[in-house]
Amino acid sequence: MQSTFHVAIIMDGNGRWATERARNRTVGHRAGADAVRRVAEAAPDFGIGLLTLYAFSSDNWMRPRGEVETLMSLFERFLRSETARCVESGVRMNIIGRRDRLSPSLVRLIESSEAATRDCTALRLRIAIDYSARDAIVRAALRDETDFRASLTAAIHADAPIEDVDLLIRTGREKRLSDFLLFEAAYAELYFTDCLWPDFGRDELSAAVHEFNRRKRRFGRVESAAMEHGQCTT
Ligand code: IPE
Ligand code: IPE
Ligand code: MG
Repeated sequence: MQSTFHVAIIMDGNGRWATERARNRTVGHRAGADAVRRVAEAAPDFGIGLLTLYAFSSDNWMRPRGEVETLMSLFERFLRSETARCVESGVRMNIIGRRDRLSPSLVRLIESSEAATRDCTALRLRIAIDYSARDAIVRAALRDETDFRASLTAAIHADAPIEDVDLLIRTGREKRLSDFLLFEAAYAELYFTDCLWPDFGRDELSAAVHEFNRRKRRFGRVESAAMEHGQCTT
């Protein structure tokens, strides 16, 4: 049983946040990037050691070209502006998902952010870009290796090990997984909130963690054995 408290978030609702304000969807995505900063900053205070954020699904390539370009340039801008701050605050950054369809300039920025923050230990921040859990599982299976977990790791997480999710949060009113961490969320506690992602911050994270701590996790066992298995109590 891993001891790191792993929280994963499906950051949904940027578009609706903007539309409700009669603004362009881009405005919502920019506000969403600010929410990422806030939540990453707050995470260690809640005992979170690993935070995995869903930023762009493989199905999001089907959005209008202008929106995809906006998102890609926001990722570049985020990596450019945040890497130094991550080093300062001890945040190790990793990007998970496919890289072969990203622009070379984005891949270069990803590699340099990962290298610059490699030794940081206060929080591991993983951002999923061009990520599809289902594709990753299928690609791992097609590698036809004996150790499926090892090939899944290679297909999905680069050099990082597979990490079970403890708490999976989805903002933005929908109640679905949208192809995120299907394998790792096997025993995740699910938390859905109507809050749109750009409005999410420390207080909403606190409410989610509070709710998580009230849940009884059993992992298929009876309760006393499940507690020995490692209920996280932060
Ligand atoms: C989440 O917000 C960000 C991405 C999926 C890239 P959306 O853009 O999905 O916002 P809504 O769901 O349209 O409101
Ligand atoms: C899921 O949100 C993907 C991300 C948050 C990056 P979507 O907005 O793409 O999901 P659906 O289309 O509502 O399922
Ligand atoms: Mg959405």
